[in-house]
Amino acid sequence: MANERIRACRACGAPVSPFMTFGRMPLANGFLLPDQVPSECFFELSPACCERCGLFQLMEQPAAERMFHGAYPFYSSSSVRMQRHFAELAAGIASRLAGVSDPLVVEIGSNDGTLLRHVRGAGCRVLGIEPAENVAAVARGLGIDVVSAFFDDRVGADILSRHGHAHAVVAANVICHIANIHAVAAGIAHLVAPDGFVIIEEPYLGDMIAKTAYDQIYDEHVFMLSARSIGYVCAQHGLELTDVVPQDTHGGSMRYVLAPAGSAPIHPRVIERLAHERAHGLGEPETYDAFRMRCERSRSTLRELLLSLRGQGKRVAAYAATSKSATVTNYCGIGPADIAYIADTTPLKHGKLSPGAHIPIVPAAEFARHPPDYALLFAWNHAQEIFAKEPAFRAGGGKWITYVPQVGVVA
Ligand code: TMP
Repeated sequence: MANERIRACRACGAPVSPFMTFGRMPLANGFLLPDQVPSECFFELSPACCERCGLFQLMEQPAAERMFHGAYPFYSSSSVRMQRHFAELAAGIASRLAGVSDPLVVEIGSNDGTLLRHVRGAGCRVLGIEPAENVAAVARGLGIDVVSAFFDDRVGADILSRHGHAHAVVAANVICHIANIHAVAAGIAHLVAPDGFVIIEEPYLGDMIAKTAYDQIYDEHVFMLSARSIGYVCAQHGLELTDVVPQDTHGGSMRYVLAPAGSAPIHPRVIERLAHERAHGLGEPETYDAFRMRCERSRSTLRELLLSLRGQGKRVAAYAATSKSATVTNYCGIGPADIAYIADTTPLKHGKLSPGAHIPIVPAAEFARHPPDYALLFAWNHAQEIFAKEPAFRAGGGKWITYVPQVGVVA
């Protein structure tokens, strides 16, 4: 399974070249046992932004089967906040479908059924599509019908022939994972009913740039989408961007609402967002040069901070073995000498080593049992939930370190 490398934009075919490289990176969810270290898989993490269509993408990506498999360690239900978010999204979808008889909602990348469980509870028929067998099994355990597949135009046509049109197609944090974005858009366009709608939620390029959240860039995020780029791709498949709604999930995301062209009014927010993206230079090479320089500064500041704490004999650990943390540890050269352990709630990660950096992952309870002096917060996007969950850490004199939007000790 070779890494896939491109020279031309995945959306429009224009030549693209990287504006920076993070170097050789492991799979962000490639948590491993010590005996697996010699066969660890790496790829070159180098992003580019297409000057013609504005699609932000990775020049190289490992094969999908290496990333999404029967031991995929990410469960949508692992954060209380995300559970709440999906419950709200489900309620919104159900209320929009209130007048439709026997509506069908299809979710691409249905993971452990966190969203569909609520959609079904609101009276809709549901169908999930999920290639990672372990998370799909959790959804099936909830009684949700799940197709085991990587979604594309063929899968979309197959579902259409078996189940009929979907009144709503939902994809949250998954379109950015699939390199063949045209096959996905074509599949969605096939599947959605002529009067149906599509909701796509993804980490937002604009937030990543504004916050210097470079840790959003890792193997699974082959794209960081914007209103301009998703609108461009979907328009080629007869879908129109009808609304955009910023979300505070995943450190800053965007909800894109689409519909078959001409079937629904376009909210003024779409025009405003496109203008906002132009005004913030999301398509300009200078924006990415400046971003690269901020990444380099962030890296040196974080390294200096950790080195200085080590020099003072402080004990430093990290909190949450997020996918994003693989980019931070490997780009900044942070290893077990800097960080004693990473505490995390996911049992599948316990007893393993973090990808590339090989920092031991321990159960979250270890954090309270052996609190460090400083804790590097890899799940910065869940900061409030975690601070509320770990009040004893601060009360005992512990200090949180963050690196988004800037490196520093949290006051
Ligand atoms: P991500 O959604 O940013 O990739 O992060 C998910 C990881 O963070 C997952 O391994 C669970 C972990 N996590 C904790 O360990 N404790 C927490 O309180 C939260 C919210 C997440």
